[in-house]
Amino acid sequence: MSGQFITIEGGEGVGKSTQARLLAERLRETGSVVVEVREPGGTPTGDRVREILLDPAVTMSARTELLLYEAARSELTATVIVPALSRGEIVVCDRFFDSSTAYQGYGRGLNADLVRTLNLAATAGVCPDLTILLRLETGEALRRATTGGADRIEAESLEFHRAVIEGFAAIAEAEPARVVTVDASGTVDEVAARVWNVVGTHPAGEHAVDEWPQS
Ligand code: TMP
Repeated sequence: MSGQFITIEGGEGVGKSTQARLLAERLRETGSVVVEVREPGGTPTGDRVREILLDPAVTMSARTELLLYEAARSELTATVIVPALSRGEIVVCDRFFDSSTAYQGYGRGLNADLVRTLNLAATAGVCPDLTILLRLETGEALRRATTGGADRIEAESLEFHRAVIEGFAAIAEAEPARVVTVDASGTVDEVAARVWNVVGTHPAGEHAVDEWPQS
């Protein structure tokens, strides 16, 4: 697979979705074909799973929650990400498996090996070439994004969201070749310039297994 796989990660309220969109636009301006997706979602099945996952009226165990995120991811990887990479396109994905490590692993406290195993099962080894982790030092954005949170995950406690942010920091520390932390403070344009600088200077990585399993 010859394309490029870029994921954008971070806690709540860091401007991730805006930056994913701006990055995709800028890459298109350079003549690249870019596929923009978000997790959970990006497929008809994934979009319906997303509705369940984010519905504040729904309750489920942490393990069920993890499995549903992985189900949406499996569908997105198999039907959108791998085909796009195979066509040599660039995939920009708003969240990917690091979110399960941070939210379900660090946030919910699920076993790290379980999360790793299910991440691998859902993606069959497809790994981002580059992950941009947006980080805000101030707790203000987090407080704003989570106070009276509109969806089931946002409505979690401040402690939960702090654990998630710690989780992301631990991932970045463990995988410095893939995960680059970008300061998300300042204007949208300032952050976009930082993101663009990272994308321009990051060497291509190993985003995919050689053979995608058909079953
Ligand atoms: P979004 O608001 O960035 O679209 O993401 C939806 C929510 O789902 C967000 O609160 C983070 C959460 N999430 C997880 O808990 N685990 C995951 O694996 C993913 C992809 C998202």
